[in-house]
Amino acid sequence: MAPARAATATVTPLQTNGRKKPSIPEVKAKLLEGKRGLIVGIANDSSIAWGCAKAFRAFGAEVAVTYLNEKAKKFVEPLAQELEAPILMPLDTRVPGQMEAVFEAIGSQWGLLDYLVHSIAFSPKEALHGRVVDVGQEGFAQTMDVSCWTFLRMCHLAEPLMRKGGTIFTMTYYGSQMVVKNYNIMGVAKAALECAVRYAAAELGPKGIRVHAISPGPLATRAASGIPEFDALLDKARAQAPTRSLVSIDDVGAATAFLAHDAARLITGETLYIDGGYHIID
Ligand SMILES: NC(=O)c1ccc[n+]([C@@H]2O[C@H](COP(=O)([O-])OP(=O)(O)OC[C@H]3O[C@@H](n4cnc5c(N)ncnc54)[C@H](O)[C@@H]3O)[C@@H](O)[C@H]2O)c1
Repeated sequence: MAPARAATATVTPLQTNGRKKPSIPEVKAKLLEGKRGLIVGIANDSSIAWGCAKAFRAFGAEVAVTYLNEKAKKFVEPLAQELEAPILMPLDTRVPGQMEAVFEAIGSQWGLLDYLVHSIAFSPKEALHGRVVDVGQEGFAQTMDVSCWTFLRMCHLAEPLMRKGGTIFTMTYYGSQMVVKNYNIMGVAKAALECAVRYAAAELGPKGIRVHAISPGPLATRAASGIPEFDALLDKARAQAPTRSLVSIDDVGAATAFLAHDAARLITGETLYIDGGYHIID
């Protein structure tokens, strides 16, 4: 299939008539001014990727965004307008050529890339909802493909654009380290993802490219709605985290943006927990 190059779009200016007020916070210190990056994984205004996009934009960075398909576009486009995103393109990693087309568009429009946020995961219901030992080959392959391989492929495509160095992020979860009820095969995929982060950090480090996994506590997003008894996870996190609070997508965004700043230039290969300290508690 031909790459979806023609779908590159410069978004039209934000129309606020009748809409709630823009949600990008006012931040005086534009610590990421001049940085340009791609954020993949905004489905709606509950997405972790949206929390990241708001933070990067608030700190002055430019943000390119993607949407899964035409159905998702109507939710993502208004958010892209708020971000004043110069690049808005479709990206379903299962559609051949779409990932390459996004990086090609960035190459021709910006010529380089400073940061990349990979915030996507998927597992078919029949794979996610069963025991790990029962997962079939197809369900396993699909889970690993979207949730882990796409991260490595995006690192591969970002590398030549990060000629001046850069920072790459992906989103993981504590279920990679501990057996979390109902997280199942996604825990296996996240363990592979965290390992992929370390190898990518080692391989790309000499080029000034840093790579991190961000591990947020549970957040009520669309992806999370596919996990049975998710409310129990939220209750447990709220009750046991040292901060006695749940994290928000804004907390995740701010911490991610911090790691993209030059002040964090010697931090790489990390899995950073944004979970109120939940992971240190037995
Ligand atoms: N919500 C949580 O509690 C939580 C906690 C820790 C980590 N995470 C991780 O954060 C990331 C973002 O999830 P979220 O919670 O913001 O949910 P979300 O539903 O808002 O985002 C998931 C995104 O993945 C995208 N996606 C799925 N398959 C895709 C494909 N084939 N091609 C391109 N995009 C695809 C969806 O379009 C969506 O934008 C995921 O990796 C998730 O595992 C979530």
